[in-house]
Amino acid sequence: MLVFTKIQEMRNWVKERRDSGQEIGFVPTMGYLHDGHLSLVAAARQENQGVVMSIFVNPTQFGPQEDYAAYPRDLARDCRLAEEAGVDVVFAPGVEEMYPDYPPLTVVDVKEITKGLCGASRPGHFAGVATVVTKLFNIVQPDRAYFGQKDYQQVQVIKRMVKDLNIPVTIKTVSIKREEDGLAMSSRNTYLSPEERKEALCLSEALKLCQELYEKGVTATSELIEAMSARINQEPNAQIDYVAICDAESLVPVKEIRNRVVVALAVKIGRTRLIDNMVIGGE
Ligand code: PAJ
Repeated sequence: MLVFTKIQEMRNWVKERRDSGQEIGFVPTMGYLHDGHLSLVAAARQENQGVVMSIFVNPTQFGPQEDYAAYPRDLARDCRLAEEAGVDVVFAPGVEEMYPDYPPLTVVDVKEITKGLCGASRPGHFAGVATVVTKLFNIVQPDRAYFGQKDYQQVQVIKRMVKDLNIPVTIKTVSIKREEDGLAMSSRNTYLSPEERKEALCLSEALKLCQELYEKGVTATSELIEAMSARINQEPNAQIDYVAICDAESLVPVKEIRNRVVVALAVKIGRTRLIDNMVIGGE
């Protein structure tokens, strides 16, 4: 496996592979890899001859009060895991390589669908994500790029951006990888104390409860949101950021589940902000 830190090295490798007719799958990450990231690699490996993973903790998507400095980093471990999973190239640029003139004056800002959910509590976050992903697409020029459903709003933002800007890449979504007890895998789970780790289960359990109620015939979202909130609020250190049920495409909140919706949660457990979601309805 190759590790590149320079944009030019990355471009040269991709050009050679593409010129020889190979298709390139791309997995953008911020590193500190877990099995969720590796499931994206597995999907990319199946559909492409070459697989590139980027590892870059992108400063522009973190708010001033967020965990950019504290975000866990371990490039040596990440490279071992990436190689075992079948990655051909890890692209791990430094901040000065990605942003020689910081901050960038050109920003990709996807409107409307970034207003609610995580966009509401993390102003500027999705502009940071859309901008860095555009830059990475321009550098790697992949045929397909793989994103986790774990970050549901992020996938919608990237899909819309690719459509609006005619970026020649196919966006693939991979389902959420969970720990055995149901907790969605996340690099941020490492922040949780043993006590908080137990409390963190309230996110997946609230989703499970919502699914059960929906299957029993409850479609009024106010009732479902209330039941999920009550479950989460049983935990002493849980603080709800949002519990929402939105149209799966437009991300506009709905009153009644009639079509496909995303049930989305963001909850702070102590100081750690966790998210989870599921798609239901419209069968
Ligand atoms: P990061 O949080 O490292 O996640 C990288 C990719 O892994 C994202 O597409 C995310 O949805 C996916 N992922 C994370 N946890 C997952 C899980 N439990 N199951 C399945 N997929 C999972 O998302 C980012 O980085 C950044 O915003 C990035 C897109 C790299 C731009 O900086």
